[in-house]
Amino acid sequence: MYNSKITGLGHYVPDNIVTNTELSKMMDTNDEWIIERTGIQERRWVKEGSEDTTAVMGAKAARIAIKRAGLTKDDIDFIVFATLSPDYFFPGCGVQIQDMLDMPTIGALDVRNQCSGFIYALSTADQFIKTGMYKNILVIGAELHSSGLDKTTRGRGISVLFGDGAGACVLSRSEDNSKGILSSHLHSEGKYADKLIVESPSSKKWVPEIIDSEGEDISYFPYMDGTFVFKHAVVRFSEAIMEGLSANNLTVADLDLFIPHQANLRISQFVQRKFKLNDDQVYNNIMSYGNTTAASIIIALSEAWEKGKIKDNDLVVLAAFGSGFTWGSVVIRW
Ligand code: ACO
Repeated sequence: MYNSKITGLGHYVPDNIVTNTELSKMMDTNDEWIIERTGIQERRWVKEGSEDTTAVMGAKAARIAIKRAGLTKDDIDFIVFATLSPDYFFPGCGVQIQDMLDMPTIGALDVRNQCSGFIYALSTADQFIKTGMYKNILVIGAELHSSGLDKTTRGRGISVLFGDGAGACVLSRSEDNSKGILSSHLHSEGKYADKLIVESPSSKKWVPEIIDSEGEDISYFPYMDGTFVFKHAVVRFSEAIMEGLSANNLTVADLDLFIPHQANLRISQFVQRKFKLNDDQVYNNIMSYGNTTAASIIIALSEAWEKGKIKDNDLVVLAAFGSGFTWGSVVIRW
């Protein structure tokens, strides 16, 4: 068995910054409410008509990651792409990356696990490396939420939360078993699928029903039972961290950097208080980007690395919770 390690990181966010005050001109909301409940100050939203799509942003992040890994696109053996907002219902974004980066006809896999998408994608890539099947895998998390949000007061409980962006890493084979991904842990609880859901487009809907709805069908907009999700999130985040640490005979005291999925600053702060972590041990950037679901952890990881917050031999734990419900963690010795 081989080990896998992250050899290159990159991220891309659209230029267009949307502040809370700007949102208050579109819907009945305000800066105080959003900051108090979520910590979000601004987010990036792709401008209508821009060249950026989920796949395009993923490709931009991927080019940076491949370059930083010291590789070329021809060195990549496989693509794993996590998103809940693909360019098309099908095919997935992975194949678009193969084309956009002009790669050989390597395999491309899409992961649909919402906020936990990057954790699932990284874990999947890790298994392909461990078995020796592939040497270098491009793992991408990207989202374009803003095109599908209800930006009226009706949708304010959701639309203020989400942002657009992409992150990518190259996961490579390593002969050093003491470093790289130590373990990953994945969970789901589908009975709560309807607590955080986008119902349509759906193969359960027949064409006459779609035509009859005449644009009044709100099942195309995200729905979330926020309080319910929040209560589960704080429990599952904590479990995911402990599961990862225990599996490696480690404790919270060994943790150098915790990078939680950026769902809500209050959730991260709750977990930080529970484990008595200091500010340097937790990386948050939801203030600037909002919740970018499958992109959030990899954007945060890339940004933390760029800022020099991750050093050789550091113990880094990534954890996510989201729609499905799904949750999980990845433990990395850098
Ligand atoms: N501006 C102003 N008021 C608002 C807004 C807004 N943007 N949104 C909602 N409100 C109002 C509501 O209408 C409600 O008013 P009412 O009391 O008169 O009915 C009031 O504010 C409180 O609303 P709640 O939904 O109860 O607010 P809550 O304190 O629960 O915070 C939030 C909402 C921020 C969404 C929180 O519940 C949360 O973060 N939940 C978890 C999110 C999460 O972890 N998601 C998982 C990942 S996402 C994924 O996987 C796709």
